[in-house]
Amino acid sequence: MRITEQQILHALSQVEDPDFKKDLVSLGMIKDLTFSDDNIKFTIELTTPACPMKEKLENDCRNAIAQLVSNVVKVDIDFSSRVTTLRDVKSDILPSVKNIITVASGKGGVGKSTVSVNLALALLRSGARVGLIDADIYGPSVPTMLGLQSARPTIQKIDDKNKIVPVDYLGMQVMSIGFLIQDKQPVAWRGPMATSALRQIITDVLWEDLDYLVLDLPPGTGDIHLTLAQLVPVTGAVVVTTPQEVALADARKAIAFYQLESVHVPVLGVVENMSYFTPPELPDKKYYIFGKGGGRLLAQQFEVPFLGELPIEQDIREGGDFGKPIALQTSTVASKAFEQLAQTVAQQIAVQNATLEVKA
Ligand SMILES: Nc1ncnc2c1ncn2[C@@H]1O[C@H](COP(=O)(O)OP(=O)(O)OP(=O)(O)O)[C@@H](O)[C@H]1O
Ligand SMILES: [Mg+2]
Repeated sequence: MRITEQQILHALSQVEDPDFKKDLVSLGMIKDLTFSDDNIKFTIELTTPACPMKEKLENDCRNAIAQLVSNVVKVDIDFSSRVTTLRDVKSDILPSVKNIITVASGKGGVGKSTVSVNLALALLRSGARVGLIDADIYGPSVPTMLGLQSARPTIQKIDDKNKIVPVDYLGMQVMSIGFLIQDKQPVAWRGPMATSALRQIITDVLWEDLDYLVLDLPPGTGDIHLTLAQLVPVTGAVVVTTPQEVALADARKAIAFYQLESVHVPVLGVVENMSYFTPPELPDKKYYIFGKGGGRLLAQQFEVPFLGELPIEQDIREGGDFGKPIALQTSTVASKAFEQLAQTVAQQIAVQNATLEVKA
């Protein structure tokens, strides 16, 4: 019996995308379908290259074709991705940036910069186009964490305006106030100067087509945060906490801040950093030295997603201190934890974008 396009599409319409709860055909995810009687070929277009569901979708498609079309036909499946956005990408502020993620916390020192750097790199490694802004004007740490202490961005004149070309790090576009000031010089700015510096490193930069722009924020919910929320159309905030009650209490304030009517930034979820310790000689053990389950409970209380737990590890700290981020490793407990975080964050964004109108 001859294979028909209708048969194939019928089979693929039985496969549901678990995030969007709709079938792949209705979602328009099946592209470039070609077939003959002994070979079916198509591409599944994902909404993020960091999609954790690739293997499942591929297996489900193969099973559906085997059951409903033919169990002898050869099936070739490719993947591509087109990251969605809710932004009008032609807007004046940050044209060419599809999704803006801020990494925030109530309390200082809980790991925002560590999460920002490694989340951005994990997204980059998934195949996405990524930028990273160190928005901690008073205490920039991204240059150290990436080993870019002596990097200096160049200036390019565009339409008579000076634009900053971000520093390139393995293909990731990076900007920090640390690139513009002398090393070790303390930053002593009054509020308006700080906000204008912040504005400069965000809007006067030549960002090139980005799927995700990650912003590492200073702690708390002050001036800088308010300026940012008003200046930049943030897709969503990732709130970092550690398991201790003192950190959780401040994380509560951070979430409440984003949910204020006047701020109104969607919270993508809570990530709990330094959750557990796994001794290298006991890889199956997890010691919850600072307490267990606080981040998850906090997420539940505010009805926002829980994005996961990150281990406390000497390698993570050293990676930050010596400019060798952990997310560049492969198959370690910590690098896998960041990979998973990147997938969850990208998934949350895709789902959030899909619930509203999508302009890709
Ligand atoms: N999971 C972890 N395991 C081990 N060390 C960590 C972990 N997360 C962060 N650290 C270390 O803790 C210190 C503080 O982390 P980081 O600078 O990322 O926090 P922060 O929230 O950005 O701080 P600040 O509020 O000052 O900006 C750093 O030395 C970092 O390397
Ligand atoms: Mg920091």
